[in-house]
Amino acid sequence: MEKKTVVLSYRRSLFIALAVWTFLVSMAALLYWNDQTRQIVSLAKNTAKTALNKDFATRSWTILHGGVYVPIDTITPPSPYLSHVPERDIQTPLGQQLTLMNSSYVLRQMMENYGTLYGEKTRISALKPLNPSNKATAWEEKALRYLGANPKKTDFYELEQKKSGTYLRMMIPMFTDKSCLKCHNPSENKIGEIRGGIDISVPLAAFAKMTRETLIHTYGWLGLIWFLGLGAIIAASKIIRNKAFQLYAKEIEKIKNYQSMLSLVIELIDKRDSYTAGHSQRVAYYSEIIARAMYHDESIVKKIKEAAILHDVGKIAIPDSILLKPGILTPIEKDLIYYHLTAGYDLLS
Ligand code: HEC
Repeated sequence: MEKKTVVLSYRRSLFIALAVWTFLVSMAALLYWNDQTRQIVSLAKNTAKTALNKDFATRSWTILHGGVYVPIDTITPPSPYLSHVPERDIQTPLGQQLTLMNSSYVLRQMMENYGTLYGEKTRISALKPLNPSNKATAWEEKALRYLGANPKKTDFYELEQKKSGTYLRMMIPMFTDKSCLKCHNPSENKIGEIRGGIDISVPLAAFAKMTRETLIHTYGWLGLIWFLGLGAIIAASKIIRNKAFQLYAKEIEKIKNYQSMLSLVIELIDKRDSYTAGHSQRVAYYSEIIARAMYHDESIVKKIKEAAILHDVGKIAIPDSILLKPGILTPIEKDLIYYHLTAGYDLLS
């Protein structure tokens, strides 16, 4: 491997490590964001439920007293829907005119006049209302139908996108019982069916503002941790890279030593046998040319060239008397000469 390749592969690993770290930190940030968003919704849900429960408490209180008498004025005229109730309108001994307000009337008036006091809007509605102004809107109708079909559900809620921001809208159902039929038409209202409901719209902005601060705080820390992590990864990779370069330099040194040893051995063999001097070098030279033509792959060519240079190394094991014998070799001497193949193999393995 060349030094350039080593540097490149380390750069790549460093880049991958940094990318993985950044990805992990971003995931943590995203999860936290999700968690906070869920928190906002759950806070808004609680607020909605609390506000609606308070409305129900007012309703129960009014029902407990069988309605309340209030002075008649333009805001509170006698209810035409209570005209069947005896003593709907009465007069105090001093002549003050009073009219009866039942729970739904009280609730509607409270909602109409003070519904937005806390930034939340409440409304009472029904699919078949006694008072037409209580007719369910499209969203209320959807909520009432859902709650009617799922009587076990205690509420229905959805997030609504408006021009002024995101709202959580929640509806709590009211079911018809025997007592309701005194004023609500029995032919239109069946016991156990959904009679209507109260719904509320809670703006999420206030809760978002609350969580924004914790979000900024946490993201600050997360950013710092990310930054420190980057530093640690870069420092660690520098240390590893330096170590790798040292190892690489050692390896190069080894290869150089091996190569100089090789040429030494080859020189020795060639010097000993003047008869075949330069033979190994020439075999290596031709092997290299042939290998290159056949394989093209430089690493194979290099291996073949090295093998060719060493192919006669076994000659070291042949005594001079045979190796340099001028005359014809006896069969035994021939066998000994052939032995240089095995000797070479043993030597190199
Ligand atoms: C004393 C008579 C009376 C009784 C009893 C009564 N209501 Fe009503 N209800 C009314 C009147 C009057 C209105 C219209 C109030 C308004 O908006 O002016 C009304 C309105 C409502 C509304 C709003 C939608 C609409 O129809 O206008 C709901 C929902 C409702 N009542 C549910 C109930 C339930 C549930 C019961 C039984 C638990 C019940 N009411 C018992 C008189 C009564």
